[in-house]
This record gives sequence, C-alpha cells and structure tokens, in this order.
Amino acid sequence: MIQADAVFSQMPKIIGHRGASGHAPENTLAALRKAAEITTSFVEIDVTITRDSVAVIQHDSDVRRCTNGTGPILLKSLEDVRALDAGSWFAPEFEGERIPTLKEAVGLVQELGLGLNLEIKPTAGWQIPTTKQVAKELLDCWPDALPLLISSFAVECLIEVRRYLPDVPLGYLTSAIPPDWERRMAEYDCASLHCERHYVTKDHVDAIKSAGYRVLVYTVNDPEEAKKLLDWGVDAVITDFPDRIFSKLGQ
Ligand code: G3P
Ligand code: MG
Repeated sequence: MIQADAVFSQMPKIIGHRGASGHAPENTLAALRKAAEITTSFVEIDVTITRDSVAVIQHDSDVRRCTNGTGPILLKSLEDVRALDAGSWFAPEFEGERIPTLKEAVGLVQELGLGLNLEIKPTAGWQIPTTKQVAKELLDCWPDALPLLISSFAVECLIEVRRYLPDVPLGYLTSAIPPDWERRMAEYDCASLHCERHYVTKDHVDAIKSAGYRVLVYTVNDPEEAKKLLDWGVDAVITDFPDRIFSKLGQ
C-alpha cells in the first residue's frame, strides 16, 4: 500500500463523486469509465456488503433508488444483487448496468489507472463485518502501486480498517466539522478530513491545514464554489461533474 504522503501527492484537486455520477449511474463501472473518459484521475465510490458477505459498490442500504429492485442490500445475496438493473433509473442507454463487486471495481480502477477514495458505507449496525470483509478483499486485490484513501462516516469502520491496513491513509468523513475535530483526527489516525460543502469556512481550512491534515469537500458541483474552496486551500473537491470544474480551472 502506498503511504499517506505519496497518496496525497498523487491526488488531484478534483475527484469524481460515485465515479462521474453526473454523467452515468452512480457507483457503476460505467461511472468509472466516464470519469476516466473526462480525464478524472481519482474517484470516490461507496462500498457495502451483501447477505453472503461480498463487498459491492452501492451508496444506499436499500436498492430502491438506484436499481429496478427494492429492499435492503444486506438481505440480498450477491446473486440477487447481480440480477438488478442499476442503469435504467439513470437513463435508458445504461440499461443492464450492474451493481459492481468491489473486486470488479478495483480491476477497472487498475485498468484505467485511477486513484481511489473508497468510502465504507455499512448498513447501520453492520460496521464491523462490512469493514472486515472490505479489508480482506482489498488485501487480496488492491494493486500496491495505486493510490488508495479510505474514508467513512462510521468511526467503527475507521478503527477496524486500521487493524488490517496499517498504512492506508484514512479520511474522517463528516457533514459539519465537529468542534473537537483535532482530537478525533488523532484518535482515529486520520490524514484527511472530508466535510460537506455547506459547513466549511476558510477558518476551518486554515486551522485543519495548519494542524497538518488534508481537507476534502463534497459534493461541489458549482465551478465558482469549487474555485473559491480551492483558493482557500482545500486539497480536493469531490464532484458529480468533474468536467465543469476542469473548465472553470482552465484544465
Ligand atoms: O465521500 C464523500 C461523500 O460521498 C460522502 O457522502 O452520501 O455522497 O456518500 P455520500
Ligand atoms: Mg460517498
């Protein structure tokens, strides 16, 4: 695994959210391909597990919003999950797109040469088994030369993943920045703080950067706002539309 400094030195200022989810169904292989096509070199995706303990790329605990099925993903086998259409809800041209397994997504990330921010997104209550399985699969399949940053809203996941992956940089993921963020960053051995765009101020960015941590902000789709945040010193913005921000920055 690449160490934190090397991961951040390879991290661009613009990261594709759930792939390039403004242009293709989120968290699918199509969204990863689209990100690469529009020259995004780093993507964020969400990972959870199925009933039979296979890590799959999915944001919600229920498959209703992003597939033609319904019900909790934790109660479905991989076979059930693979039978779902995860593309048609977004646009007819994506019909037949599937929920990818983590291993498939990693394979494609490797083929495309992308860096990855993997967000562990357990069904509530299933933080530990989800993290154990994700870590086990990453130890099997993660290509050592590629940058990997793991984040989660669930601190149990951060603690658990550290047991298996001692070197991987961890991101403390939150909506609003907690008043005791500095204590939490140290406690969970995090290298970066990832916060929601509404809650971040320039003072936060200055303080977090002065303490030696990176700051990532999601989900920033307005190019003007992205420019402002990057001018403040935010290390990267996570966006559904990397191409819009590239245009604004003249890239
Ligand atoms: O990791 C940043 C962002 O993805 C966190 O929120 O709900 O889009 O996973 P969410
Ligand atoms: Mg996410």
